[in-house]
Amino acid sequence: MARITSGVATSHVPAIGAAVDLGKTADPYWAPLFAGYDWTKEWIKAEKPDVVILVFNDHASAFDMNLIPTFAIACGENYKSADEGWGPRPVPDVKGHPDLAWHIAQSCILEEFDMTIVNQMDVDHGLTVPLTLMFGQPENWPCKVIPLAVNVVTYPAPTGNRCYALGEAIARAVDSFEEDLNVQIWGTGGMSHQLQGPRAGLINQDFDIAYLDDLVQDPERLRKMDHIEYLREAGSEGIELVMWLIMRGALGENVKELHRHYHVPGSNTAVGHLVLRPE
Ligand code: DHB
Ligand code: FE
Repeated sequence: MARITSGVATSHVPAIGAAVDLGKTADPYWAPLFAGYDWTKEWIKAEKPDVVILVFNDHASAFDMNLIPTFAIACGENYKSADEGWGPRPVPDVKGHPDLAWHIAQSCILEEFDMTIVNQMDVDHGLTVPLTLMFGQPENWPCKVIPLAVNVVTYPAPTGNRCYALGEAIARAVDSFEEDLNVQIWGTGGMSHQLQGPRAGLINQDFDIAYLDDLVQDPERLRKMDHIEYLREAGSEGIELVMWLIMRGALGENVKELHRHYHVPGSNTAVGHLVLRPE
């Protein structure tokens, strides 16, 4: 049977991708940020996931105001790196797992989560930067990826509670897929950041550390957190953190924290990273 064996949370800042692509990771600005991923890169080489369910948000690359799916699961074979204005990132195409993706779509929809099914989409930094952080610069990504895009760009974003419940439904779907597969689920985005307006540059370390702590030990508090609290405490883009709750919901009640990294600043954000094992 397929099994979710671990969960990863990480920020997905575009400048992190540029730092790797341009060979700047050893620069004094970037080195401490990347050092926090060294442990994970070794760990994931040993874990060898077959498939990653990669929860991310599109930043007006594949979707725009014409089409705003709240939860979109990508069921295709292949996804190209999106052109976000300076050409596509020089990374391999992302290979999907259509059979598992369609199974998750069916299982979640029959459990009354109204997923949008996407067969063709380019994937932006929200998806490719986490892959780069975990796997570096390989010729091909070492696993299949099921992109799960969440709308956190245009209000209303889904609630944290709904995200957590979707994670639980995804875990049930994976558990009922017959092929033996080592599946990971990643939640990306965050942490505190605001990219525009008078509070641009906002970072709230106290909020972020409490979020990291409670993602591990008290996700019930985070499930109940209102959008307004994310906005007030973590800035307008802090709402990306609801995507971490999809990952957390898929891991079950108790988890073991295997690794943590928190670094300020990464571009305009606080960079957070957790590796969790269901217990
Ligand atoms: C930045 C961070 C993001 O998460 C994003 O999607 C775009 C920009 C930034 O810090 O610059
Ligand atoms: Fe983002």
